[in-house]
Amino acid sequence: MPVEFIKKYIDYIALHKLNFFHWHLTDDQGWRIEIKKYPKLTDVGAWRNGTIIGPYPGTGNDGLHYGGYYTQEQVKEIVAYAAKRHVEVIPEIEMPGHASAAIAAYPYLSCFPGQSTFVDAKTPLNGSREGKQVQQTWGVFDDVFCAGKESTFGFLEDVVSEVMPLFPSKYFHVGGDESPKKHWEKCPNCQRRIKDLKIKGDKKHPAEHYLQSYFIQRMEKFLNKNGKSLIGWDEILEGGLAPNAIVMSWRGEEGGIAAAKENHFVIMTPGSYAYFDHQQEKHDDSVTFSNNRWYLPIEKVYSWKVVPQVLSASQKHFIMGPQANLWTEQMKSPAKVEYMLFPRIAALSEVGWTQQANRDFAEFNNRLQMQIKRYDLWGVNHFYKNK
Ligand code: ACM
Ligand code: ZN
Repeated sequence: MPVEFIKKYIDYIALHKLNFFHWHLTDDQGWRIEIKKYPKLTDVGAWRNGTIIGPYPGTGNDGLHYGGYYTQEQVKEIVAYAAKRHVEVIPEIEMPGHASAAIAAYPYLSCFPGQSTFVDAKTPLNGSREGKQVQQTWGVFDDVFCAGKESTFGFLEDVVSEVMPLFPSKYFHVGGDESPKKHWEKCPNCQRRIKDLKIKGDKKHPAEHYLQSYFIQRMEKFLNKNGKSLIGWDEILEGGLAPNAIVMSWRGEEGGIAAAKENHFVIMTPGSYAYFDHQQEKHDDSVTFSNNRWYLPIEKVYSWKVVPQVLSASQKHFIMGPQANLWTEQMKSPAKVEYMLFPRIAALSEVGWTQQANRDFAEFNNRLQMQIKRYDLWGVNHFYKNK
């Protein structure tokens, strides 16, 4: 998305009294932030040879060389713009999974640098299938950062060291989600690490599950030493939480509940209430990530009880608040982002700032009519337009 639109988006956030912008900067399909020590992250990792058309496996490949990234100067400009509007920007650098773009740039980060990126036969890839690739479709991929090699941690500490000064926030998100253990199981370096650390598997989980915890704990130590608090998706519960980690609960509420019970702070963002990449009505008129499998109407967002009732009063204190996620893999333009965001963002705001007992959708919906008029005056491409 263009820098100018990111600023507009921050205006929208501020106008709805939301106070954080979580910026997902790296993934399998592109690395989106300049790192001066590792120029290939953006020379190579920010670009892909094409994109599948439509939802996976797609009807073909658009064959377009696609990419881009934010320079550190642009990042600073955006962070300052947000700060003026009382919005704090939290960066996310994904590890150990969702690492295909980084690995395409620096194959040594993989357990198997010489092995071509696995792309299943169904995926209509444009260009060569040889060597490491930036992914052209969406999903979960096996080629993750190697947890055995010291060079992986050297790289990640260097990257984090360049990213931290750009973001005054005390929070730093390390991803942690959807990281398959298939390569770690076969990798001699990862297996040596498991042996050295005397990590044992048990009836419930193999040793590699606990290696995820080692990975995150090691990064937490580095972040804490630099005055930052680690946030991770709820998979960071795997193998035991890092001592000060904040959990972002996305696969339902369970991860958040488990973390709060262990006296860890939690941000709630369960898929069933908070994924704004899901369409807003049952049969939507455009391609979305959920593609008619799920839908998230504004009524559902408004019905969200952010603080799980099963928690005790003291545990409830650990729930920091709600977040919604707007993943843009099926949003090719700012207009589409607005279409997915509005008016659900209004419901998100009230869910965050009002008491559940005081919320009544009919009453909210009455007030929403005036808000829609504001959106129209702003020229926002909201969902209700032309409905
Ligand atoms: C996620 O949606 N994979 C955090
Ligand atoms: Zn490995």
